[in-house]
Amino acid sequence: MDQTPRNPRRRRLLAGGIAAGIVATAGYFGLKHRHGNEGLSARATSFRNKLRIPGASARLGEASEAADASIVLQTGIHPQPILEGAASDIWTYSHRNAAGQLQHNPTLFARTGSRLKVSLDNRLGDDTTIHWHGFAVDELNDGSGLHPVRHGQRYDYDFEVRNRAGLYWYHAHPHGQTGLQVHKGLAGLVVVEDDEEISLQKRLGLTWGVDDIALSISDKQFGPRNKIIHEIAADDWIGNEVLINWTPDPVFEARPGWLRLRLANTSNARLYRIAFASDEGANLPFQLLGTDGGLLDKPYRMETAFLAPAQRLDLLLDLRSAKAGEWLMMRSLAYDPMENDAGIGMPEDPAMEHPGAVPMGENMDLLLIRVAGEARETAGELPTTLSAHGIGIREDAKRRPFRLWIQDSGRWMINNWNYHLAHGGDVFEIARGSVERWEITNEMVSMPHPVHLHGFQFIVTGRTKSPKQVAEQAIDPRGRTPHDMGLLDTVLVWPGETVSIQIDFSQPYSGKQRYMFHCHNLEHEDQGMMIGFAVTD
Ligand code: C2O
Ligand code: CU
Ligand code: CU
Repeated sequence: MDQTPRNPRRRRLLAGGIAAGIVATAGYFGLKHRHGNEGLSARATSFRNKLRIPGASARLGEASEAADASIVLQTGIHPQPILEGAASDIWTYSHRNAAGQLQHNPTLFARTGSRLKVSLDNRLGDDTTIHWHGFAVDELNDGSGLHPVRHGQRYDYDFEVRNRAGLYWYHAHPHGQTGLQVHKGLAGLVVVEDDEEISLQKRLGLTWGVDDIALSISDKQFGPRNKIIHEIAADDWIGNEVLINWTPDPVFEARPGWLRLRLANTSNARLYRIAFASDEGANLPFQLLGTDGGLLDKPYRMETAFLAPAQRLDLLLDLRSAKAGEWLMMRSLAYDPMENDAGIGMPEDPAMEHPGAVPMGENMDLLLIRVAGEARETAGELPTTLSAHGIGIREDAKRRPFRLWIQDSGRWMINNWNYHLAHGGDVFEIARGSVERWEITNEMVSMPHPVHLHGFQFIVTGRTKSPKQVAEQAIDPRGRTPHDMGLLDTVLVWPGETVSIQIDFSQPYSGKQRYMFHCHNLEHEDQGMMIGFAVTD
């Protein structure tokens, strides 16, 4: 690949805040003396905070029992102790459960075919919405900026869950303020289940909250008095702490057996390259079971996988022969961030917006997994087939090209569109029921863009001109990686690359339904790297 300079905006950062400590004792799994993980055991000792587990505490990350009954989510500001010292002013969706406990950003559960009914009670002091990310909904239930909910008002979302089983999420999506509101905390997870999913859990002997864990990963920028900071009109808002389920430097105790981790990248802009490492050992391979839209056709063995903002990964780790006391570290491995947009429309020596943040693309330790307790008897074998989405590639699909690029002024564009320049109007209409192939090309002078479609999931039909770090993961002649083998709602397009996706615009709604297609780097979205389109009769 071309060696284009990295963006100086993000090069002038202080070193990451990982404290060294005493040397931990145990190695793990007999994988020793390979390269790349120097000093990991020293750093691992600073991971001391018990991971918040959805379903296990009344704080952030709690699961809701009330899946069928109507749920009221009230927006507001709730100080929560996150780092040592002062509580942080987190913006949350609060819910009072049947037992009268107040839950913040509850994890919601739904079954395919059931209805999800949630009322938003907005007490934020500003407009907001709840966008149901990844869900096949109509416009009124999409929670986009087209339907803002004013302060003091209520809005009822009520839709049939038409999606496959998988991990989805919900977040604020008010016009121009999505980055701010999500960074401040307005996001939660939704777990969708169906019979196939439940039988996989049974077969592997998995228990939700014990060895089947959802991990919402987001970096936040903390300032004085632990305040969470976000500046409107900033670019690429990365943070100086990576939190998992709102836990900094988290540690999780796993029993020997299968460990399923369902990751959601709920960060504004940070891209991770997920791997599992020991202090001096190799990366422990994992099985990729699923992505945004649920289970893949079969498990894919991988050592590292990119996880872009808004994407989900369903991973299985084999800890069946692990011994108590052994540990491994979930990390983000170094990668080339390809921020080739250096200096365009930005001052050469900008203010340090993210003091303490680890620059994009550098190694980061994310979660310490420590093995404790006895192995279970129940762990079965991993099936060789998982699930089929049953969607074939259609060569007759209508082609629609998109180009991602940056103007000299620093404005991100999709073709000749920018949401603000288009005043939020629809830039094209699509006949309901048609199948299209969108060919999304990212310029070389650009950066990676995780592009996201509202209302419909899609399959990837091919990747061309991928950078080496992506091309080396390809598993078919179309250039697709394991991550591309299922249904997605967000796909990462690297500089120089063209990614083709196939979308079936069938839906059981009528009239005109308006949706969005945008970059899920939330600062890019807020700056208008988004188009509106309509699906019509
Ligand atoms: Cu998750 Cu339009 O966004
Ligand atoms: Cu969305
Ligand atoms: Cu972008």
